Amino acid sequence: MATPVLDKAEAGATASPYITVTFRIRRFNPELSEDAVWEDFRIEIDPKERVLDGLHKIKWDLDGSLTFRRSCAHGICGSDAMRINGKNRLACKTLIKDINPEKPITVEPIKGLTVLKDLVVDMEPFFQAYRDVMPFLITSGNEPTRERLQSPEDRERFDDTTKCILCAACTSSCPVFWNDGQYFGPAAIVNAHRFIFDSRDEAGEQRLEILNDRDGVWRCRTTFNCTDACPRGIEVTKAIQEVKRALITRRF
Ligand code: SF4
Ligand code: FES
Repeated sequence: MATPVLDKAEAGATASPYITVTFRIRRFNPELSEDAVWEDFRIEIDPKERVLDGLHKIKWDLDGSLTFRRSCAHGICGSDAMRINGKNRLACKTLIKDINPEKPITVEPIKGLTVLKDLVVDMEPFFQAYRDVMPFLITSGNEPTRERLQSPEDRERFDDTTKCILCAACTSSCPVFWNDGQYFGPAAIVNAHRFIFDSRDEAGEQRLEILNDRDGVWRCRTTFNCTDACPRGIEVTKAIQEVKRALITRRF
């Protein structure tokens, strides 16, 4: 019986999709050393997989001590923001094939927040700034008997800033925040914007006063790093500009 021969298309279809990739990861363990070091890991991975899949392979198969945050693995929880090849990204939304797997892929913690271990930073200052802008609906008067109505145009006014997942990619890409962690940072301003421009909310003036502080919106130098870094495509710099304008005109 003749040996079956695969044509080129069939041969391509059965070829292994896996390639060998080097992950160069910034490691820090305060129990072992005061200094962070780079460590290389070589893994087999399908280029259509994500950086988060690579980190899982390393943690599960090569070094269980590798420490990073992740939860949903689908771009919703915002817990796996990290610097990948020098740029803030979500590891779960970054495909290997999109970041030149022929060179080592560098993975570091986001900047401007204290590193606790490996890729895990202390998010408390970030969340404190978020809490400071009162990111919840504030109203006066009696509880309504039905939902608070709003026109589609009024809803549209703050639609963009509702998309924030609090990943901190914007704030930790901001040079002002790197130099002075006191600055509220883009994410807090985005979340203030979400309520300042909500026609149902009654605490816009209060939030504007909070952001009129020396560590508030006026520290923004409009570098657009935050807009470039946002994995949700939020126009962060535009939102900051709108808050600045509202502070000057008191119209929102
Ligand atoms: S504005 Fe974008 S980058 Fe900033 S915290 Fe929200 S989702 Fe992340
Ligand atoms: S793990 Fe939830 S956003 Fe990436």
